[in-house]
Amino acid sequence: MILVTGATGQFGKSTIDFLLKKGISSTNIIALVRDEKKAADLKDKGVVLRIGDYDNYTSLVNAFKGVEKLLFVSGSDIFKRLEQHQNVVNAAKEARVQQIVYTSFQGKNETESSPLWLVTQSHLQTETWLKESRIDYTILKNTLYLDFVPAFLGEKVLETGVIYLPAGNGKVGAVLRSEMAEATANILTSANQAGKTYRFTSHEAFSYQEVAQHLSEITGKTINYISPTADEYAKTLTEFGVPAEFIGLFSSFAVAQANGELEMVGSDLEQLLGRKPTSVKTFLNQVYSPSIN
Ligand SMILES: NC(=O)c1ccc[n+]([C@@H]2O[C@H](COP(=O)([O-])OP(=O)(O)OC[C@H]3O[C@@H](n4cnc5c(N)ncnc54)[C@H](OP(=O)(O)O)[C@@H]3O)[C@@H](O)[C@H]2O)c1
Repeated sequence: MILVTGATGQFGKSTIDFLLKKGISSTNIIALVRDEKKAADLKDKGVVLRIGDYDNYTSLVNAFKGVEKLLFVSGSDIFKRLEQHQNVVNAAKEARVQQIVYTSFQGKNETESSPLWLVTQSHLQTETWLKESRIDYTILKNTLYLDFVPAFLGEKVLETGVIYLPAGNGKVGAVLRSEMAEATANILTSANQAGKTYRFTSHEAFSYQEVAQHLSEITGKTINYISPTADEYAKTLTEFGVPAEFIGLFSSFAVAQANGELEMVGSDLEQLLGRKPTSVKTFLNQVYSPSIN
């Protein structure tokens, strides 16, 4: 049995769909959910539902009973994640899970000096717990979801003609979440994965200057890229009423990118998919092309 955590979320759900497409029987897939009401679609597909919450250790031990492989999708609450992840790893040990595949994160600077330390710290600690757990582990060092680029650009980017982000000339090797999920399903259904670490990145990294050029070509409108300082960025977005937590998150990723911390490329994902991941240009075309929209 393969249990997928975060199964009501986008990464978990997409991975389950790829497992089903690969011919894994729905009765051999367990979805860990907090709220059964959110999982009606999974139930309709015949996927087994088990209730569990990262905050509730006993619920996890019960949910993990009889599970051979666990896809551990990292929690979405970065302030509670350390304790939650410790619960997941300990519960998996107690329930004698044989293999854990964990969705981690990667940056070139995985130290306290990184603006992304709040994000990476709990991932690194979880990797350490997994390595100490004596459970067969596989670590997926995910990059930024390409799907998030429109959020960084802002919903009015075509109206204003400006991309405003403190990302300098830094680049990011972002890839689509669904392609990382597809590769994850391939790993879950392949033998000999113990002790492996995969780096899920694109084969090419891009800057926001390049995004501005692509957008200009796609839409026929001139889109300019302005890179303010992080302070100017925070001040401007605050004036526009953007909540501080969002400004903090966007700014951390943009500044990390400016520092070169996200400029990672590689071929792990390409090999797992059997094709090159979707490029930023293709993605932007899908989202912004006037002929498609
Ligand atoms: N690489 C990136 O760019 C990037 C970006 C954002 C997030 N992430 C990380 O990747 C993960 C998956 O991304 P996603 O897009 O699938 O996120 P998502 O759609 O927000 O899904 C998060 C999933 O985690 C579940 N969850 C949250 N807290 C939980 C808890 N206490 N106990 C059990 N389940 C819990 C949610 O359950 P409910 O449906 O019940 O809320 C949901 O199923 C995120 O959780 C985050 O750690 C990565």
